[in-house]
Amino acid sequence: MILEIERVAHGGVCVAHAPDGRVVFVRHALPGEQVRVAVTEERSAYLRADAVEVVRASPSRVEPPCPYAGPGRCGGCDWQHVSLDEQRQLKAAVVREQLQRLAGIDLDVAVEPVPGDDDGLGWRTRLRLAVGPDGRAGLHRHRSHEIEPIADCLIAVPGADIPDVVGRSWPEGAEVNVDVSATGERALSTGTPDRTVTERAAGREWQVPVGGFWQVHPGAADTLVATVTDMLAPRPDDVLLDLYAGVGLFAGALAPSVRAAVAVESDRRAARAAVANLAGLPVTVVADRVDRWLRTRQDGSPVDLVVLDPPRKGAGRDVVTRVAGLRPRAVAYVACEPSALARDLATFAGLGYRLAALRAFDLFPMTAHVECVALLDAGP
Ligand SMILES: C[S@@+](CC[C@H](N)C(=O)[O-])C[C@H]1O[C@@H](n2cnc3c(N)ncnc32)[C@H](O)[C@@H]1O
Repeated sequence: MILEIERVAHGGVCVAHAPDGRVVFVRHALPGEQVRVAVTEERSAYLRADAVEVVRASPSRVEPPCPYAGPGRCGGCDWQHVSLDEQRQLKAAVVREQLQRLAGIDLDVAVEPVPGDDDGLGWRTRLRLAVGPDGRAGLHRHRSHEIEPIADCLIAVPGADIPDVVGRSWPEGAEVNVDVSATGERALSTGTPDRTVTERAAGREWQVPVGGFWQVHPGAADTLVATVTDMLAPRPDDVLLDLYAGVGLFAGALAPSVRAAVAVESDRRAARAAVANLAGLPVTVVADRVDRWLRTRQDGSPVDLVVLDPPRKGAGRDVVTRVAGLRPRAVAYVACEPSALARDLATFAGLGYRLAALRAFDLFPMTAHVECVALLDAGP
């Protein structure tokens, strides 16, 4: 089929319509283009397809810097064929659309680059590679268990030394984590070893479990800490909750500006690292699930500020309802998934918390991912 590409949609695809009226989600295309597609999945309500030939190109189309990007190839990046500026416009359109559709919020969103990112390459400090039957590590193809063999990965920080990783032999079926810290450490691991790397952000160092969560872009942690701090405007008497705290980044960065903080994190290794990272600060670390901790919280003391930084599926109705029930002055919601953010914002709105500000950052260039920070307050 030859299709006219209409607009961008969530998930690194563009929308077109097949001659029979069905929606087609097309990868490797751009709005305004005419492309020949190969259908990769057919459902009664929609189709998925790859653009395999560009009949009329968008002015924003570029030659993908990565030789493994393209139809049927590596699934790690979605927008290698798009200029960096246009990638940010596409992500802004997706955030706007999700907020409109799922939360009824009309907002003009701009996606900001993080400092030091001028070509969208060489930023990924955490990678997970899959190992095939030949013992070689590679990257998954899009929506597939198949592995694309690679010699290097252009979005990885150079210190990841991917040629070395893929040159080794690994156990079949293993997942290989590559962590490169801001202090120059490199750790290769499978599983969850009892080791840490030392990160640097917010003017200090942090212990982070090998293979565990840390903000991936080298500019991310500082950018998010500055944004959250600016939005929450902490006061010396405030009590802060850092929910989904990881190794304690936000609690640790904000603790010197508040009276007390509680950091809640369910991953045991991360919570253990948070205890070490937050020693000497007025922060209590709780190793528990946020939903369970909020449900069973005995201490009815007031909470002034909340940082919510949930995984991709969002905080969800139960957690949002309980957070709003604490009546904090402000909530900073750090979100890596705009649809989950929009759904949670809709729940907050029903509980009297309005969206007071939103910033979006290009923490994952070349991919369709975008990070948002939303400020919620109870209004004037
Ligand atoms: C997006 S990360 C944020 C971590 C931290 N705020 C940071 O910026 O480094 C989300 C964190 O939530 C944790 N997590 C996931 N589900 C959880 C739950 N139900 N309760 C508590 N923590 C959870 C994960 O282990 C992960 O550390």
